[in-house]
Amino acid sequence: MHAPPANASNRGAFGSRMGFILAAAGSAIGLGNIWRFPYTAGENGGGAFVLLYLVFVVALGLPVLLAELSLGRASKSNPVGAFKRFFPQSWWPYVGGLGVLTGFGILAFYVVIAGWSLSYLGRALTGTFDGAFTAEESGALFTSIISDPAETVALAAVFLVLTAGVVRAGVGGGIELASKILMPVFFVLLLVLAGRSLTLDGAEKGIEFLFSPDFSKLSTEGVMSALGQALFSLSLGMGAMITYGSYLPEKENLPVAGAAVAFFDTLIAMLGGLIIFPALFSVGVAPNEGPGLVFVVLPTIFHSLPAGHIFAIAFYALLSIAALTSTISLLEVVVAYFVDERKWTRDKAVAVIVPATFCLAVPSALSQGGVEFFSAFVGEKSFLDTQDILFGNISLSVGALLISLFVGWKWGVKNAIEEMDNFGAGAIWSILIRFACPVAVGAVLITYVIGLF
Ligand code: TRP
Repeated sequence: MHAPPANASNRGAFGSRMGFILAAAGSAIGLGNIWRFPYTAGENGGGAFVLLYLVFVVALGLPVLLAELSLGRASKSNPVGAFKRFFPQSWWPYVGGLGVLTGFGILAFYVVIAGWSLSYLGRALTGTFDGAFTAEESGALFTSIISDPAETVALAAVFLVLTAGVVRAGVGGGIELASKILMPVFFVLLLVLAGRSLTLDGAEKGIEFLFSPDFSKLSTEGVMSALGQALFSLSLGMGAMITYGSYLPEKENLPVAGAAVAFFDTLIAMLGGLIIFPALFSVGVAPNEGPGLVFVVLPTIFHSLPAGHIFAIAFYALLSIAALTSTISLLEVVVAYFVDERKWTRDKAVAVIVPATFCLAVPSALSQGGVEFFSAFVGEKSFLDTQDILFGNISLSVGALLISLFVGWKWGVKNAIEEMDNFGAGAIWSILIRFACPVAVGAVLITYVIGLF
């Protein structure tokens, strides 16, 4: 085993296994589960997409998650440093560099959606969702919110500042504490919402949409999205889990922690689907509504819940918090790079990166009808959609491909398995990370890129 680098002790660390699991799950669980999963599943025809997503989570996501965690803990480093530590004179550190850039890119559009969530929180507080709310009214409200330039830009900024506050507080104090308290509360609230949605008239249609696969509905783009979604949801492919792994104490068992994170993340995505789709068919919203899906569907059911007013407030508060534990991990990757590799202080890193992210967030915020140029940026796609596809699907897939090649063939499965405390299922994991992951991810990427022309 490799000795940790000299500065390892003052980088910060998670206090306990539970703290780590919750923080890593906090990174994984976010808008990806509640906002992105339902709308991409809806756009790609439901069942077949969901099944493929689940296969990708188990066969590719979990192995890559373990690869990232072991590389992170073994190197005690940010994504760039992790590659550099074992192969300083190679091009591999650039893979980490791509990860840092991707984190920055995802953060810049993620805070915009998180800002929408804050906006809904404000409206829940002032009683907007108290009475019956039709799908049309809900759709109109959504359109008016996201096309308001001042509000969306301001709320994205607020969200960035909140994220910056936690990341400045450091690993144990800020990130771990926030996750430990809030994630369990969120889970309970989701269960109640799913219960409500599943007892609505016509709920069976939603379950059928979600779980009965019709492969004729799945396009090449859909396959790419399922892979992108599996990686995005687990926070993989850009080194967020390398970074979090680097803060995990040596004595913790990686496969157990990794499996727990993947399990909870997937469970919450399924809950997200079980909330949205039954309600959607019941109130008559189209499944392929797009990024507004969750925001349009949910307000139509709050009033029918006991204590609907409080419920709506709690839901948007917790959705915002779930988003916060994810943006924290995105910003943390970029910060860790500047702290470890460039020897900046944490404060300086935050002070430089946050304004830069804001600049890239502005065009996304203005791209939902606020400013025409950004709204149809590449063909029909808005600036926000373009960012999401570029960073959230393609770049994560390229990252996951390279990380699995690195861990499988360059750093080597032997070192990784040793880091995983001689993981019992190491042989299966080795095959997945050396063969299944690179071949499948490579094939999806190549087919997707060919399909673009
Ligand atoms: N996984 C988070 C979500 O589902 C988003 C996220 C946080 C992320 N960190 C990441 C995605 C790193 C990709 C890579 O909302």
